[in-house]
Amino acid sequence: MADTILEIKDLTKIYGQGDENLCVLDRAQLTVERGRFVVLLGPSGSGKSTLLNLIGLLDTPTDGQILFEGKDITKIKSERKRSQLRLNKMGFVFQFDGLLPEFSLLENVAMPGLMRGKDEKKRAQKLLDQLGVGSMSHKMPADLSGGEKQRAAIARALCNKPDLLLADEPTGNLDAARKEQVFKDFAALAKEGLTVLMVTHDVHAADFADAVYTLENKQLTKTK
Ligand SMILES: Nc1ncnc2c1ncn2[C@@H]1O[C@H](COP(=O)(O)OP(=O)(O)OP(=O)(O)O)[C@@H](O)[C@H]1O
Ligand SMILES: [Mg+2]
Repeated sequence: MADTILEIKDLTKIYGQGDENLCVLDRAQLTVERGRFVVLLGPSGSGKSTLLNLIGLLDTPTDGQILFEGKDITKIKSERKRSQLRLNKMGFVFQFDGLLPEFSLLENVAMPGLMRGKDEKKRAQKLLDQLGVGSMSHKMPADLSGGEKQRAAIARALCNKPDLLLADEPTGNLDAARKEQVFKDFAALAKEGLTVLMVTHDVHAADFADAVYTLENKQLTKTK
């Protein structure tokens, strides 16, 4: 039997209030099985980042349910419990790398481990090596290219061995070869049990994915 890790039911997100409001998601549905590499496509402004932020507990929906490992996480109100769940179970790659400027690449990648009281420097270095930026681990983010930072951000999201990786356009700054490598890496990680939900504008990513959803007109449609 398939093991569902994430189930989104009738998810609605309306930004703002009164006449100024903007409905981005209108009773959207999504089911993700564990160990799958799922790609999320959709036009700019369609609500892809909004959806990832809701799943990653960085924002709260207007209505609907997000069942993560069987539990409705929209019901968790305590900020401490929300960040605990995020730290222990999820990895997040932000659309704009989100690295802390005052720390080196290695420190940035090891940070989620440190927040759980673990010294993950070795693992952090290994992840940076795998992503081809190992030799830059002692550099500060400001001294790196956009693509190098993006690869470090992927390493950071993987540091705590999450169950679910939420990646928001993680390859936007990478060249075609690096992009393809990241897609292949995600497909391989999914085979080992990680669930990956990746937002991208690159339709080529669909070739590597187990499932593809398109977000358009406030709804999610399965397109592969
Ligand atoms: N905090 C906010 N308050 C009000 N409106 C917002 C907020 N964040 C996003 N929006 C609006 O919601 C819509 C969806 O934004 P979102 O960032 O989710 O789109 P996206 O699909 O990720 O786009 P892109 O591909 O350009 O990254 C946009 O019209 C945006 O202007
Ligand atoms: Mg976005």
